[in-house]
Amino acid sequence: MSQQYHIPVLLHEVIEHLRIHPDGIYVDCTFGGGGHSKSVLENLSAKGILVAFDQDEDAMKNLPDDPRIIFVPHNFRHLQRFLRLHNLTKVDGILADLGVSSHQFDEEKRGFSTRFNADLDMRMDQRQQVTAFELIHTYSEKELHKLFEQYGEVTNAKTLARRIVEARSTDSLKTTDAFRDSLRGIVKGNPNKYFAQVFQALRIAVNDELGALKEMLQQVPGVLKTQGRVAIITFHSIEDRLVKNFFRRGTFEEPKENPFENIVSESELKLITKKPILPSEKEIKQNPRARSAKLRLAEKIAVSSEQ
Ligand SMILES: C[S@@+](CC[C@H](N)C(=O)[O-])C[C@H]1O[C@@H](n2cnc3c(N)ncnc32)[C@H](O)[C@@H]1O
Repeated sequence: MSQQYHIPVLLHEVIEHLRIHPDGIYVDCTFGGGGHSKSVLENLSAKGILVAFDQDEDAMKNLPDDPRIIFVPHNFRHLQRFLRLHNLTKVDGILADLGVSSHQFDEEKRGFSTRFNADLDMRMDQRQQVTAFELIHTYSEKELHKLFEQYGEVTNAKTLARRIVEARSTDSLKTTDAFRDSLRGIVKGNPNKYFAQVFQALRIAVNDELGALKEMLQQVPGVLKTQGRVAIITFHSIEDRLVKNFFRRGTFEEPKENPFENIVSESELKLITKKPILPSEKEIKQNPRARSAKLRLAEKIAVSSEQ
């Protein structure tokens, strides 16, 4: 494995806006290749602490030999639980760089990439039961339709769902090649783009990426200190909308057209930047995988009971 594990995206922007206190406690929800974590550690004193989550055991290979880091090999949806386990109740900053790492894409056997033939797996956490294989064999046609339409924005999601249901009754669809072959006749537009969208949708569902994000975000106001900051990098419009709505209004719902119909909840977070921060042309040139990244930041505001 000579390839680089992962190039951190929007690194300077994240570090600048997190405004790291040298003695603070920080959480990297998505350790991966450890690129963001490394920079956080560089900004911490010997008293600082970094709690790093990653549900993929491969990420552990990248752990630095550093007593200030606490690694949690679990899903970040259990953020608060694991902080408590380590006797940490409040933290100064939280970062999440969502999705899969380049390493996960580039590892043939993981089944994330359309470039290789592998088992239809796509689990970030190998301890998890549900694989992409299981999902395409157990979801109803309606569920598959919704999945490909919403997560993959696949134009003919309905046809695709019907084709999968037909194919799975006769073929085993065990591998990514077998799965792709079964769809040959229905591909719309550029096949590479089409299959990338189909694979992305499956990956999001297999790993319940939106469910994990929502659960984590809901715990953020409770674990951040006042003036503590949270930085989230998304790569999908649905994720970005969830983050934006939650940071702005404390809810995942889209605002209603009629402003009087909106439930006004007192958000404990304040947006730091109105618009998302995007990678520069230069960064995209150096790292094309950064092109769809969006960074949003919020700060925990003082609530009256805490003053
Ligand atoms: C885009 S990579 C992060 C890269 C990292 N920022 C770096 O600089 O190398 C995302 C990582 O987060 C992990 N991950 C994604 N969702 C997760 C979740 N819900 N819980 C724990 N880890 C998760 C993936 O396994 C992957 O290693």
